[in-house]
Amino acid sequence: MSAEQYHWWQQGVIYHVYPRSFMDSDGDGIGDLPGIVGRLDYLQWLGVDAIWLSPIFPSPMADFGYDVSDYTAIDPVFGTMEDFDRLVSEAHARGLRVLLDFVANHTSEHHPWFLESRSSRHSPKRDWYIWRDPAPGGGPPNNWLSAFGGSAWEWDDRTGQYYYHAFLKEQPDLNWRNPDVQQAMLDAMRFWFERGVDGFRLDAIWHLIKDDQFRDNPPNPDYKPNDPPYYRLLPVFTTDRPEIHPILAMMRRLADAYGDRVLIGEIYLPVERLVAYYGMHEPELHLPYNFQLVLLPWDARRIQAAIDVYEALLPPGAWPNWVLGNHDRPRVASRVGRAQARVAAMLLLTLRGTPTVYYGDEIGMVNVEIPAEAAKDPLEHTVGHGFGRDPERTPMQWDSTPNAGFTPGDPWLPLSPDYPVYNVEAQRTDPRSILTLYRRLLALRRAEPALSVGRYRSLPAEGELVAYLRADDAQRFLVALNFGSWVRRYSCRQLGLRGEIALSTYLDREGERVEGEVLLRPDEGVVVRLID
Ligand code: GLC
Ligand code: MG
Repeated sequence: MSAEQYHWWQQGVIYHVYPRSFMDSDGDGIGDLPGIVGRLDYLQWLGVDAIWLSPIFPSPMADFGYDVSDYTAIDPVFGTMEDFDRLVSEAHARGLRVLLDFVANHTSEHHPWFLESRSSRHSPKRDWYIWRDPAPGGGPPNNWLSAFGGSAWEWDDRTGQYYYHAFLKEQPDLNWRNPDVQQAMLDAMRFWFERGVDGFRLDAIWHLIKDDQFRDNPPNPDYKPNDPPYYRLLPVFTTDRPEIHPILAMMRRLADAYGDRVLIGEIYLPVERLVAYYGMHEPELHLPYNFQLVLLPWDARRIQAAIDVYEALLPPGAWPNWVLGNHDRPRVASRVGRAQARVAAMLLLTLRGTPTVYYGDEIGMVNVEIPAEAAKDPLEHTVGHGFGRDPERTPMQWDSTPNAGFTPGDPWLPLSPDYPVYNVEAQRTDPRSILTLYRRLLALRRAEPALSVGRYRSLPAEGELVAYLRADDAQRFLVALNFGSWVRRYSCRQLGLRGEIALSTYLDREGERVEGEVLLRPDEGVVVRLID
């Protein structure tokens, strides 16, 4: 296949914007849509292809937008529908696609549907949510737990039943077995497709359907005392239920009716279960998110094995994807350290499949310690201290002026104290910065289809090294990554290793000839253009 036969979402790179923290245009301390519009030139300069925006819909913000009270409008804190239309047209004018976050599993408790549903047992919308009587002896109907702490069942005094919430009690789960719910939600997707959005990231999608017999979840034999309480049980009756697949196929038919759109799913499941979400009998998601690089320990052997297993398990025609970070997980530079974060960037952007870059990772942003009185994420309270996600959601660091140029007002979360050094302005002209590395990797990937859509072949490597080949009919590249802090040599008998360095994570070796072996400094990764 030539590069032109691939879809944009196969060759492109997705950039994840957390709108509250990207750019504030009106001084309320919260990022907004006009702010994002003002930074599109930066994203174009960086060289990404699409932006995914965490939710921008009207929301009481119990979970910062993941509790939606109207699926077809814009929350005033982010701007207006006109601002949104302008964002789409300005992005498209720069060749950038726009993806929205579709919170399908649950609404806000303030959504009119839920208000109606909870108003009476006889409400026509009662069955739009999951209501149950107490257990025979009283108390919640079964042992199901909320991912955000405590029972997943919330008592409603007025109507004398419990409702189910996989996340906060402010986020009641929709009953996706009800065809009216399906229609209403598909209508909402249609609304945004009509406005020109290029696809959706489907939030918490593996939670969509729960067991129709409401069986108790079994205990998790691997539960460790410091794990969040949710992990006490195996969520086999609350997630990954078989009836989800026809619903995803229905969403896919809708997306396909609009042409070249993409459906991405947030799914935390082991790879052998994840791959089912490409579609069992008919096409479902284009990209079920693959979080292995986020979840695995940063160990060369574990990572190389995970890549190989994933490649091997992909069903025919399924397109891979890779993620290094998101708004729910500690930042990569904090997990692996700043030196290895550069190696991680090279890995992310040279693997086969669609990469997603989390905003700020390209300038090496780290988790920011948030003083207790400034904490915003409800998980800090519901799950417990240290489980809050504020540290990875702090404002983007644009320059060295007050508040890093993010806002003229009071930022909703504190900024990292390192922003005078780690900011876009300082790094964009620095030939050795991590931002320059990201930009060069993105440019190389764009110029060389072998690196985006080419074949992947694992190469033998030992200890702290990861090595693989990326090739199409025109070019072959060796990628060799040193996960350790000692000098290493990589050589490979299977490979006529002759070529020149196209890029090093140190940004100082381009054009260097290599023959027989390649020397890797501590924390160094290289892309070698092979010559036959
Ligand atoms: C997803 C989101 C997370 C949110 C949760 C509930 O996991 O990524 O931020 O809190 O769903 O909507
Ligand atoms: Mg604002």
